[in-house]
Amino acid sequence: MARILLGVSGSIAAYKALELVRLLTAGGHGVRVVLTESGKRFVGADSFAALTGAPVLSGVFDEDPWSGAYPGESVEAHRPIGHLALAERADLFVIAPASANVIARLAAGFADDLLTTAALVASKLLVAPAMNGRMWEHPATQANVATLRSRGVHIADPGTGRLASKGEAGTGRLAEPEDLVVRIEAELATTAQQRQDLAGRRVLISAGGTREPLDAVRFLGNRSSGRMGFALAEAAAARGAYVTVVAANVALPTPGGVSRIDVETAAQLQAACAESFTYADVLIAAAAVADFRPAQVAAGKMKKQEGEETRSMELERTPDVLAGLAASRKPAQVVVGFAAEHGSGALDYGRDKLVRKRLDAIVVNDVSDKAIGFDSSENEVVVITAAGDTPVPRGSKREVADAILDVVGPLRRG
Ligand code: CTP
Repeated sequence: MARILLGVSGSIAAYKALELVRLLTAGGHGVRVVLTESGKRFVGADSFAALTGAPVLSGVFDEDPWSGAYPGESVEAHRPIGHLALAERADLFVIAPASANVIARLAAGFADDLLTTAALVASKLLVAPAMNGRMWEHPATQANVATLRSRGVHIADPGTGRLASKGEAGTGRLAEPEDLVVRIEAELATTAQQRQDLAGRRVLISAGGTREPLDAVRFLGNRSSGRMGFALAEAAAARGAYVTVVAANVALPTPGGVSRIDVETAAQLQAACAESFTYADVLIAAAAVADFRPAQVAAGKMKKQEGEETRSMELERTPDVLAGLAASRKPAQVVVGFAAEHGSGALDYGRDKLVRKRLDAIVVNDVSDKAIGFDSSENEVVVITAAGDTPVPRGSKREVADAILDVVGPLRRG
């Protein structure tokens, strides 16, 4: 049995939330409902109370007679602040239907009613939008949904078909209750799995992009922000791993519980990774490492000469950190690479690198697509192992990180 908090907002699809509650309670889950004021115009609190067997709350100042307990639990003697307890104790907070207005308020971080306040403290959020097709397609709504995704909120995409307004069709229908139940069960299963599946494993992650100095102030670098590597670090730590991240020029805060070693160049990255790899069970090389560096680094700042129109510079190869560590690893160590490829042939290049560098898995992403990859908040990848390819659909880097760990976690075990 899981504790599910269901937020219902003002949409004609609110009636479908009754069926959703019925299915979830029939499946043995304890459901509590938070209904917005506009939600009440479409469906009554009493209906939800009857189906869940628990009081329904609306306002931030509503007192919760159950003190944050869920059906099937005993009501605690103390009186925690209702909205915090309800949301904090939920295994999953589902907002279905989520109107365009609620999505905008969630994206902006409002806490002007109980539903939005609870969303700010919930650890895992699944949002099921429902609205008119033109509202759904409006750039404002799409930007708000993208903001939510980038924060790790999961979205149950609306369906396409007839909409509430007479004669209108399009995308915006609330996902069907039966489909939502399947999605909710999957979310609950990953939550449970995420609690422990990397417990005690030592995971080393390289992140960011190296900078190779030309002189005292200039460097050859790349666009990698380190977001994918940091999302992996955060996700691995959340699954119980001891995580070390070797961060090459990353301007992001360190995820909680993660050890961080800052480096600049490929040589420094190599030294830091080699040392930590001795103790690691898994290496994930997400950093974009320079393949070449200036053969000579000028002392001080290089000056241009009078009349100088072009200048050439000699570059030399950097060590392939990943291939070197893969070649020296112990049998139980798992080694995972990344391949940023451009356009068609990406998967073939990835497979080639998997074999050539002797990796257990390689994560291929197509950096020709501007919306994903370098310096963007979303990604879409294919994880290739000897067993086959696992396509990971577009999602926040945190979602993609979890999907990568789902594939990588079980490798070389037993
Ligand atoms: N890598 C590394 N050391 C290098 C270069 C790359 O460890 N000097 C690692 C990266 O961290 C990444 C993978 O190798 O995991 C990328 O492989 P690479 O062959 O360098 O691919 P690209 O740089 O993407 O491109 P290409 O080989 O096609 O030039």
